[in-house]
Amino acid sequence: MMNALTPQAPDKILALMAAYREDPRDTKIDLGVGVYKDATGLTPVMRAVKSAERQLVEIQDTKVYTGLAGDPAFAEVLSKLVLGDVRPTDRLACVATPGGTGAIRQGLELMRMAAPDARLWLSMPTWPNHPAIAKYLGVPVSEYRYFDAQTGGVDFAAMMGDLSSATAGDVVMLHGCCHNPTGANLTLDQWNDVADLIIEKGLIPFVDIAYQGFGDGLEADAKGMRALIAKVPEALIAASCSKNFGIYRERTGLLMAIAPSADKLSVTQGAMSTLNRLNFSFPPDHGARVVQMILTDDVLRSDWAAELEDVRTGMLGLREALAAALRERTGSDRFGFLAAHRGMFSLLGATPEQVETMRREHGIYMVGDSRMNIAGLNARTVPLLADAIVAAGV
Ligand code: LMR
Repeated sequence: MMNALTPQAPDKILALMAAYREDPRDTKIDLGVGVYKDATGLTPVMRAVKSAERQLVEIQDTKVYTGLAGDPAFAEVLSKLVLGDVRPTDRLACVATPGGTGAIRQGLELMRMAAPDARLWLSMPTWPNHPAIAKYLGVPVSEYRYFDAQTGGVDFAAMMGDLSSATAGDVVMLHGCCHNPTGANLTLDQWNDVADLIIEKGLIPFVDIAYQGFGDGLEADAKGMRALIAKVPEALIAASCSKNFGIYRERTGLLMAIAPSADKLSVTQGAMSTLNRLNFSFPPDHGARVVQMILTDDVLRSDWAAELEDVRTGMLGLREALAAALRERTGSDRFGFLAAHRGMFSLLGATPEQVETMRREHGIYMVGDSRMNIAGLNARTVPLLADAIVAAGV
């Protein structure tokens, strides 16, 4: 059997992680995988997470299975964090999943089960695992233009133009905030326009929200998505706790499905639980339990929110410092978009050759499409990166 296997194309983000590890230079700078790092290059366990874990060791008296959908208390608190006051309790089905990737996978499984002929519309560019999972599942994919390389912002006219050729029943993947890889995001007005188009064309939004709290704050980052959710009859939402709780390896995510009417809730929930059973049975519980403890304890919650806010403002400071360093070196504001972007990532707009030059000559590792993880920088490396960008002729 194994003789028939052919080599799989490596995921470009994970391949970059391996290349970085093998580089012996101690001056190397990792701007690759989307993991937060503090000024010393560490990815610490957040204070509230440590505290909840300590408590959990004391109070947890069994490790028996939860339910196929995971612990309903986790779904309740995380769906409240994501959806706020537009959370439709009588139409909301949830399953816990292994991370945000698991939520995307299970959402696409649900799409394939419910609407095998529907197309999935992905922003161009998008997180490479979106098309990879869709392709593996045989879900047909179309792309909509999204990024304007000239301005570093969203090419909204092109996006709306492309989406207007979608067919009723097609699914549109949207990044809830902190677009990965570009860092360019829709304004609230644009979210409302997208919602109107989705309703007019009979499309179904699938929102991937993996960085809530990393852009303009926990509430601000959810605003656009909530405006959309308040209007549309049905939707899928994949949420991840990997980044905003810093529990990457605990694999903590939630797939939410908003059913078109309350009488479709039970069949939707049943399908999602069945899909969990078919893929992995019970979702991981440790991270989910920690998140649930943090969000339901006033002290832990405010400490977590404060630490997340420090992470967010630290990244904003790095964005501003990098934009200023480039302004100083180029005498122009053509990299000003770096300060306007939000979240962990920015697409620099360098060619693959320039990305390769920066890697070879300066030990700077960014993804081949020139996506930079801003959290990989610190006060010492910002000027080094700015020098390298200018030297590579970006
Ligand atoms: C990223 O985009 O770097 C992260 O979402 C990590 C991953 O799994 O690719």
